[in-house]
Amino acid sequence: MCSSCFVIPSVSIKLLTTAAALIYGQRSFTTNSNKWTRWITFAITVVISLILSAIGVFLLVLSVNPDFRQRNFVNLCVGQNLKGSPLDVHRCSVLEQGNVTGKVMEFGPGPGTNFKCFQNMTSAASIEKYVAVEPNSYFEEKIEEERKARGLEFPLEFVGIKGENVDIPEQGTYDVVVLTHVLCSVDSAEVVLANAEKALKPGGVGSLYWNMSWRVRDLLFFTSKGKWLPPS
Ligand SMILES: C[S@@+](CC[C@H](N)C(=O)[O-])C[C@H]1O[C@@H](n2cnc3c(N)ncnc32)[C@H](O)[C@@H]1O
Repeated sequence: MCSSCFVIPSVSIKLLTTAAALIYGQRSFTTNSNKWTRWITFAITVVISLILSAIGVFLLVLSVNPDFRQRNFVNLCVGQNLKGSPLDVHRCSVLEQGNVTGKVMEFGPGPGTNFKCFQNMTSAASIEKYVAVEPNSYFEEKIEEERKARGLEFPLEFVGIKGENVDIPEQGTYDVVVLTHVLCSVDSAEVVLANAEKALKPGGVGSLYWNMSWRVRDLLFFTSKGKWLPPS
């Protein structure tokens, strides 16, 4: 289970108990004050407690309701994608090295964050088919919208399943497999990479972008069929 699944409920319980303690304890701060000071302190305490309680309840619902969590995660990712990031330069340079073209499979594409890189890549104009293996089905509509918004014309196939569980269609025929910022989210990076290798044709290219390069090197030691980029 993900570590945030334990952290979020405990944070929300702390927020709710802090809110309750503030309401309960505020009287003792102001017992010797005049009427107005007491009222103003009471009003400020109520506002702060309500804000803390609202955040606490939101986090609690987020932690117990996977559907609510997935929907909110999609909105967060779409917002971040629109805003862009300074790391996009590195992301796009890794994908350019991978010369993304032909038949492509991406694991965990989210809202199609990588499409911004394809927009300016000549090789991407000859993508024949793009298979998106993404367990969060709320991304399906978003990734299609992003493809259209970026003027990308390849057919997009959404496979709503985890990368560990996907039954790779047309094994050994993909020119490029893309994994960016995804191995940190999966249950088993080893199984996802093994499936990525199943998809690749001999000599195909695996394009990886991850914030833990030592772990990538560690994992790629066991891969053999494709050429994995970046090799550093
Ligand atoms: C941090 S986001 C990265 C999105 C995008 N690849 C990027 O570079 O910005 C991780 C993505 O991996 C997806 N994901 C989580 N577990 C997965 C799994 N087991 N297999 C495939 N994708 C998964 C999430 O739904 C999410 O879209």
